[in-house]
Amino acid sequence: MSAYSDHIATVQARFDAALAATGHEAVFIYAGQPRNAFLDDNAAPFRVNPLFKYWVPITENPQSALYYQPGHQPVVFLYQPRDYWHATPVVPAGDWQQHVDLVVIDDINKIPAWLGERLSKAAFIGEDFAEPVASWKVAARNPAALIDHLHYHRAVKTAWELDNMRHANRLAATAHLAARDAFFAGASELEIHHAYLAAINVRESQVPYNSIVALNENGAVLHYDNYGTQAPAEARSFLIDAGALYQGYCADITRTYSRENGFFQELIEAMDTAQQQLISEIKPGVNYLDYHVSQHLKIAKILSDFGFVKGTPESIYEQGYSSAFFPHGLGHLIGLQVHDVGGFLANDAGETISRNERHPFLRLLRDVEVGQVFTIEPGLYVVDQLLEEFAGNADFNWDRIAELRPYGGIRIEDSVVVGVNGDNENLSRDAFAAIQ
Ligand code: GLY
Ligand code: MN
Ligand code: MN
Repeated sequence: MSAYSDHIATVQARFDAALAATGHEAVFIYAGQPRNAFLDDNAAPFRVNPLFKYWVPITENPQSALYYQPGHQPVVFLYQPRDYWHATPVVPAGDWQQHVDLVVIDDINKIPAWLGERLSKAAFIGEDFAEPVASWKVAARNPAALIDHLHYHRAVKTAWELDNMRHANRLAATAHLAARDAFFAGASELEIHHAYLAAINVRESQVPYNSIVALNENGAVLHYDNYGTQAPAEARSFLIDAGALYQGYCADITRTYSRENGFFQELIEAMDTAQQQLISEIKPGVNYLDYHVSQHLKIAKILSDFGFVKGTPESIYEQGYSSAFFPHGLGHLIGLQVHDVGGFLANDAGETISRNERHPFLRLLRDVEVGQVFTIEPGLYVVDQLLEEFAGNADFNWDRIAELRPYGGIRIEDSVVVGVNGDNENLSRDAFAAIQ
């Protein structure tokens, strides 16, 4: 059996269980279609429904769909418009074609005719803002119980998914090295962004999220994507958070660089060590929140060691000082989406775990399980808005913080596959090692 045939067997079994548990006979998954901008006839780039590409690596064929009834082979309706305005999307080659009934359609109105009564008995999963799908008679539209069940289980990846994520990480690592070289060559943020895309031969709509390409102070803006067009006179530091896609699966990697050897380089090295120590602690059965707290304590120690804040790691954490420097979550599930959903699900019955009040931006609160893939992305930044709360606090060394401000901040992000007994796989570091 190929890795893909094992994968689709797992997906099929997960759908069988989800449909049975939620009382649905069958499912119809619409790949989706691009949305036009307001009062405009130009569409935003197409993003395929993640539960469609879970079955088949078809990501560029809007208005395609999949019908699945337990006990039967899935049917893929591949939309190939007869249209002289656009290039016809190609039928992606691959093993998947041997595991589905492939029906090529040039008009989606042919789907109800092909399925007949079966469509009205199926749960519909997908966006339905447009006709004709908006008016189709179906058994249910995006039933939350069914979707939650599926999202809960897809946190654990199949071998085929892991292969795709390894590949996506190698692409991202290749592009990251090109971006790093462009930074050291003195490029602007926009030029670095272009170097990243060119290194892996993709356009902007073909990376999983807007790349964060930040020089100097901009590194402190967590979702910075302004891309300055002029290189600053002095480019001291560079933070890049950028990914890649392979067969619909995402990589999400962050690296930070210092132009000079000196205290900022030492701080990067300390953060890098702290991130790797944290990854070595990860074991099945422990709640992800515990790792978030453990990473806070390591960052608190760095804050004290480098003289930014006074106190023990515990006191720095308890007083909320470390949250002023590390204000986001430790990481998130990743796979078909850069932020795979399901991080708040307590079980496959759809019960949820409330956001943690102390750490509201942490979007993974589940227990760690073998086969889950998530990111580990600690950060340390000078965010003045957050530091204002501590103005005048003598535990803070404001002169030392002022030295760090021109460098923005540091984030280091890898994706980790949870192994048995802590035998974890670091997809991102392995990717850099494989290509260097
Ligand atoms: N690149 C988005 C994130 O790291 O979560
Ligand atoms: Mn991330
Ligand atoms: Mn990221």
